[in-house]
Amino acid sequence: MEWRIPLSDIDFGPEETEAVQQVMNSRWLTMGAVTQRFEDEFAAYTGVRHAIAVTNATAALHLACVASGLGPGDEVILPSLTFVATANAVLYTGATPVFADIEGEVSLNISPRAIEACLTSRTRAILVVHYGGYACDMPAILAIADKHGLIVIEDAAHAIGSQLNDRMLGTLGLVGCFSFFSNKNMTTGEGGMLVTDDDQLANKLRVLRSHGMTSLTWDRHKGHAWSYDVVELGYNYRIDEIRSALGRVQLQKLTVNNQLRRDRTALYHKLLQEFCPLVGIPFLEHPGVSACHLLPILLPVGVSREACMELMKSKGIQTSIHYPPIHRFSAYRALMSQVSYNLNCTETLAAREVTIPLFPSLPEADVTFVVEALRDTLTYLS
Ligand SMILES: Cc1ncc(COP(=O)(O)O)c(C=O)c1O
Repeated sequence: MEWRIPLSDIDFGPEETEAVQQVMNSRWLTMGAVTQRFEDEFAAYTGVRHAIAVTNATAALHLACVASGLGPGDEVILPSLTFVATANAVLYTGATPVFADIEGEVSLNISPRAIEACLTSRTRAILVVHYGGYACDMPAILAIADKHGLIVIEDAAHAIGSQLNDRMLGTLGLVGCFSFFSNKNMTTGEGGMLVTDDDQLANKLRVLRSHGMTSLTWDRHKGHAWSYDVVELGYNYRIDEIRSALGRVQLQKLTVNNQLRRDRTALYHKLLQEFCPLVGIPFLEHPGVSACHLLPILLPVGVSREACMELMKSKGIQTSIHYPPIHRFSAYRALMSQVSYNLNCTETLAAREVTIPLFPSLPEADVTFVVEALRDTLTYLS
């Protein structure tokens, strides 16, 4: 389907083509010098000691959980209103995901009070997700973690360049995980990054990324090593040089593109309040600086989401849902049937949520077009 206005779009130009061409000309495609530079630049951008590039954010989350020592018998508190990968990463380690409710209409992020209600003697970690690039209540969450001796892992897949109190999101907990999937604020097609200030953890993450081996093919190619030991049960979660080359160019464009996202978001918020006063707008006034990855809205109670999305589609506007709550998926229901949760906000707000188009090159006229189309759709449906 050709959309008049797609949900998201990438910013690729001759710079990306040139960077990929250079890698191909170099004849070294697997993880090496370009990845090292990408990691250094990402670490500098986020202000951390270590950035470790991986195949995708799911792998990053998995490694973060493994390297944090999570395993069978441990409970990890996280939101259900996220992409399924967040919870899958916990399950891969044998630990148990425990879903905490979100804050409410003003913020779709995990609620610190709900986190406290989920604490047990088995709780080992809190896995936060900065929904749409908007900061979770990290001061409160870090205080809970501190009080109970818990690890904090940040799923910052949406939050590349988001800040809270002058710190980049993803750098506030023990370890942060970013995604470079093609709809994200910067993309390498598939790709991800771990960030941490903890030297020991960083070493462990690097070893786990590459089969638990003590040296890389690249080290041996450079003559730095001729053999290796295997010291952990590791994985092959390495990124490659083509993706790292894309990542380096995309990172340079991020600051400008995130500002364009913020400008579009401000315009959306203004027009939505004017033309669609019954629509709920999460994160309208939110602490910190958001990377504005998503533009979520909450349909008025009683309006059919399916009919609304169909009507928007008939006008050529792509919309989406973020997210069907994880605890409702068949696989999770089967796995977790014995556990009962209080996820009232998650359930009621997830059912009303619609995500509307947002990307840096979205023309301002198209923002107006989307809001007017939404106004007409809601008038027709009510
Ligand atoms: C919140 C969240 N976490 C994790 C992921 C997984 O990222 P990836 O596709 O890079 O594995 C995504 C991807 O969409 C996401 O939105």
